[in-house]
Parts: sequence; structure tokens; C-alpha cells
Amino acid sequence: MEDPFRTIEWRGDHIRLLDQTLLPLDEKYIEIRTVDEMCDAIKRLAVRGAPAIGVAAAMGIALGMLGASGMDREAYRARFDEVCAQIAATRPTAVNLFWAVSRMRAVLEKAEKLNVPDPSALLVEEAVALEREDRALCERIGHNGMGLLDDGDTVLTHCNAGGLATAGYGTALGVIRSAFENGKNIRVISDETRPLNQGSRITSWELQKLGVPVTLIPDNTAGALMQRGEIQKVIVGADRIAANGDAANKIGTYSVAVLARHHGIPFYVAAPLSTIDMSLRSGTEIPIEERDPREVTHIGGIAIAPEGVAVRNIAFDVTPHELIHGIITEWGTASEPYEESFRAFFAAQEKGGAV
Ligand code: MRU
Repeated sequence: MEDPFRTIEWRGDHIRLLDQTLLPLDEKYIEIRTVDEMCDAIKRLAVRGAPAIGVAAAMGIALGMLGASGMDREAYRARFDEVCAQIAATRPTAVNLFWAVSRMRAVLEKAEKLNVPDPSALLVEEAVALEREDRALCERIGHNGMGLLDDGDTVLTHCNAGGLATAGYGTALGVIRSAFENGKNIRVISDETRPLNQGSRITSWELQKLGVPVTLIPDNTAGALMQRGEIQKVIVGADRIAANGDAANKIGTYSVAVLARHHGIPFYVAAPLSTIDMSLRSGTEIPIEERDPREVTHIGGIAIAPEGVAVRNIAFDVTPHELIHGIITEWGTASEPYEESFRAFFAAQEKGGAV
């Protein structure tokens, strides 16, 4: 089935993206014409989800550098560093953002070595390639993971790791979609995912569009459904995975993993290699974003807590690798010891080139 929406798209002199803050009530595309606008879109989650943030970062850099065409080499490089620093300061946890910045930097460095007079076209090419690749590798993740789901399974997912969190198709939802499209009878339980409700607003919307049966639950219902035997698998995405397999994902994921272990339910993570950060030995080193308390005290501008109450709004938590049954990537499903699996996948990628 065709994707029912386009998460993010390069449009020659601007970027078009689906404003995810307005879903499900309004399906509105917005045009991004400046780096400031892209940074704002990433910060306020108009574009969100680790791989989509990576694509947005690359496109934001390409857009910023279009405006630098014609500058001399030093000025062009200074502007590039400035744009990258601005983009890199938007959100700290999803490593795909920093990975995308590195890919763009490698293009510029190569262009400098070759004395390319204006590298802007090459930067645009790279950003567009990154978007195309992301869509393709999500399909591979889906294909690699679908065998883990059995006909008749009800699968719980947390947050949104779907086409909207990527350039299309999705990671965790990509696995579900592959199994479903290959004829398996799969039902999904979507955690609502407080405080920003990516599960209720986005995952439910996306699965409905794809025709996959989905049931929405408040986050605190997952344990009860597991206890009743109504959930057979859990699949989530990730924002950053350390070398030992510890995985950061939307706040609440860790609680689900603990519940799944208690009930003997397999818990899988689906993510591309660009989400794996081999420079971090364990999840304790992953930088975790804390966001505006207002996201907890208000819903749709309406206060649901007394003014002045103390709030913790930690956006991500880390699921220790011991609780993870497997990490599904575009190069296969990693298992303990994760570091060994990851090294083999990176080596295969190096040999096999781009997806
Ligand atoms: O704050 P968000 O909405 O960007 O958080 C997104 C998640 O936690 C996703 O589960 C994760 O990025 C995986 S996306 C394929």
C-alpha cells in the first residue's frame, strides 16, 4: 500500500512537512523556508521521531547553505558550522540528528578537498538521498522483523515509531505493517503516551489510515492487559541505542519493558543503524531531554494541574539491554551480546554500501 502521507519532502527552495502537532484534528502541511523555521519545527515536535529528525536536520542544513551560495570558501565554511551548531542544539537525545549533521559535514569536507566552487547542490543531493534511504531501510527493518510476529498476535507499541517518525513506513510500525501486509492477522494496542500523546494522536491515526486494527489505551492500562493475556508482543522504536544495547525511547517505554518481562512477553526494539551510538558504552551516558513543564500541566491549552505545582517532564527513558529480546535493524536482528551483533552489522553496511 502507498504511504497515506508524506512526512517530509524537499521542494527545491523549501521543505514541506506534515505538522504533527496538529494531528489528528488537522492534516496540515507547512513550508519551511529558513533554518530558524526548521529549528523551531524540530523543537516544537512539528517533525519528530529519531529518523525523521535526522532527515529534517540534513534538509535544514541544505536549506541554510542554499542561502550561502556565492560566499568565499572561509565564509561558506563559517556559515556551515553556524547552521550545524544551530540544528544540533534543537534536541539532545535522538542521535540520528547528530549522525545526519556528520553526514552533511563529510559531504562539505569532500567538496572542499575537490575544490568544488559551490557545494550547495551536493548538500541538497545528500539530504534528499538521506530521505530516500530512510524510507528504504525502514522497509528492510519491516521485512527483517515481520517473522517475529505470529498470526493472531496483539502487539503493544509505545509512542510513535511509524512513517511519521521516519521518512516513511516506520520502524516498529514498519514491522507491524510488513506482517499485516503479508497476510498475518495482527492487532495493535497503542499506548496513549503522555504527556504529548504521540500514541493517541499519531500512532492511532497512522494505523487507522493503513487499515491496521488498533485499540487505544491509557498508558496505565498496559499491565492489566498483559495480566489478562491480551498482549503477545511489544515493539517500540528508539532514539539512541548504546553499544551494549541499552535503548533510549519515549518516556514510559522502560515501564512497559519491565511489565513485559514480568509477564514473559517478548519486548523488541526496531531501529536503523543510524540510531546506534557505538561511542557510548551504556545507556547511562545517553543525554536525556527534559521539556517544558507546561506539557504536563496543560492539555490543548487547558490547565489540568494547579498553578505552580512542581513537575518532572523527562522526555525519554532508557530500557536496559537485559529486558530487550532483540533489536531489529535493516541489517538483521541483533541479540546479546549486542555490541558484537552491532559490529557485524556495521561491517556489513561498510561492505554492502548504502541500503
Ligand atoms: O519526542 P518524540 O516524539 O520525537 O519521540 C519519539 C520516540 O520516542 C520514538 O519512539 C523514537 O524516536 C523512534 S522513531 C522511529
